[in-house]
Amino acid sequence: MGWGMKNRLSRIINPKTGHCVMLAMDHGYFGNIPGQLKCFTDLNPLFDHADALMLTRGMLRSCVAAEIDKPIVLRVSAGSSMMKELSNEEINVTIEDAIRLNVSAITCSIFVGGEYEKQTIMNLSKLVNWGQDYGIPVLAVTAVGREMARDARYLGMASRLAAEMGAHFVKTYYCDDFEDVTGICPVPIVIAGGKKIPERDALQMAKNAIDKGAVGVDMGRNIFLSDSPIGMITAVGAIVHENASVNEAYEIYENGPKGL
Ligand code: 5RP
Repeated sequence: MGWGMKNRLSRIINPKTGHCVMLAMDHGYFGNIPGQLKCFTDLNPLFDHADALMLTRGMLRSCVAAEIDKPIVLRVSAGSSMMKELSNEEINVTIEDAIRLNVSAITCSIFVGGEYEKQTIMNLSKLVNWGQDYGIPVLAVTAVGREMARDARYLGMASRLAAEMGAHFVKTYYCDDFEDVTGICPVPIVIAGGKKIPERDALQMAKNAIDKGAVGVDMGRNIFLSDSPIGMITAVGAIVHENASVNEAYEIYENGPKGL
């Protein structure tokens, strides 16, 4: 890795702890906006508590103050909505605009086994080539089609494939035997949170993921749909960066302010 690449990545994955808490806010890019989300503008109070923000170009421009001192992981893939085949994505942001937006990493989804698998793997390869040219790390998101099993065999294969394509870090889902996923992926892995589940369960999942080799989380709904989003992100941070127990983290969540 060149200096620029290392520098950008070190803004996301804290070199002191080797871990990171990313706040995922890209849910609207394929039309997935449950009533609760309304507008991510409301999430500003959370930003201070995240190590990095993952979102789309439009939301970055509209809802995040340009003065913010947080690394941005920009989703640059799009092209389908929930109304159609989700894997039919292409790259929708130029590298020049990503650079203008001063992002610390770019990201797209790959749909291994999906109808447009090849297209999405070539999307990732395009980003890696851009990343190499301009010193910008690439996060590969292993999206899972409805028909795919979220098991270690599938997620391990998808994560390894992403690493083989040159992704600098990978986002995937937590599953049983998660050590079999991290064990075959030579680059850092962060987990998505997935659908909203009870806070203690989400904290347990984060704990298990870290114990089994993840470097952190890129969590969305389990943070901003919580009754205490700040409590929740602080609790997740305690697990990820300070090796807090689930009970300790849960107490942090419980003592967090209600609402945003
Ligand atoms: C979808 C994504 C999302 O960022 C991610 O799944 C959202 O986070 P969460 O599942 O924790 O709400 O990359 O492909």
